[in-house]
Amino acid sequence: MAQTKTRQRIKIRELIKTAGPKHAISITQFEDKKLLDAIFATAAEFKAMPAERYPKLLRDKIVATLFFEPSTRTRLSFETAVQRLGGQIISVENAGESSSKVKGESLEDTIRTLNGYADAIVIRHPEVGSAQTAADVATVPIINGGDGAGDHPTQALLDLFTIQEAKGKIDELTIGLAGDALNSRSFHSLLELLSLYDVKVYCMAPKVLQLPKDYQAELRKRGLNFELRENWNDVIGGLDVLYTNRIQQERFASPAEYEKVKGSFVLTKKDLVKAKKDTIIMNPLPRINEITIEIDDDPRAIYFEQARNGLFVRMALLQYIFE
Ligand code: NCD
Repeated sequence: MAQTKTRQRIKIRELIKTAGPKHAISITQFEDKKLLDAIFATAAEFKAMPAERYPKLLRDKIVATLFFEPSTRTRLSFETAVQRLGGQIISVENAGESSSKVKGESLEDTIRTLNGYADAIVIRHPEVGSAQTAADVATVPIINGGDGAGDHPTQALLDLFTIQEAKGKIDELTIGLAGDALNSRSFHSLLELLSLYDVKVYCMAPKVLQLPKDYQAELRKRGLNFELRENWNDVIGGLDVLYTNRIQQERFASPAEYEKVKGSFVLTKKDLVKAKKDTIIMNPLPRINEITIEIDDDPRAIYFEQARNGLFVRMALLQYIFE
């Protein structure tokens, strides 16, 4: 199952290289440090700017947000970003239940329809490859807000921006990712992006939730220096970045399977005693049980700032897509 998904992901990567409009389907489209630097510089400008000075770059533009899976940050930060830049939003927030999908409409037909209304479509969907399916039938840009256990490119962009902002660099950092490496699309996209840099990565997950094998092979091919671990005991003290993500309950075949692993990698104050004074603690959120709330007041915990950065990075991405 996991291997099929990975192969599908690799195929998607090949496809998007020839894509027409400026889609954001996979993070591999952003594997150009000059492009990343430009997006991050714009995001930093937006962050420093009072809201009344934001340029109305999206005046006359309508962006559709089509979400078949729950979302708080991705959808609302995109919708805020569009409106801050003078554009307007049409939104289907619970598309699995409130769009014509209920009547049996295909994703392709829903996209063909929205394509006639909106100037760009942000989509989140439970199937790996769904954003590419959308891009195949769209003439407007498609932005992947998460395709199942596949990719989450805009999350990786805001994560990298946050790391750079907090640490002043990416190269030479030691970065630990802990949680559900099999299903976390945030991990998948961030790992690919990190393979552009000279970093050391520890991918820490319960054995049954480790990165799919062929996916690991691809990261090795890309030259990412990474090791797999089943716990963080001997690693946590050397990390510059500790990035955790919840065990992705909705991807499990049964509640019993989830119960077996739901207590893995729960970060407590006790664990942090071993961490460096300047280790940053990140999480794409939502946080379930993987970071105890006592950690929220620790100055190293930057996950809510990370979520806030999502707004500025998505504004910068919209500027890039529409310029
Ligand atoms: C992530 C997602 O949806 O993949 N959340 C987000 O977009 N901020 C992470 C998660 O749901 O665990």
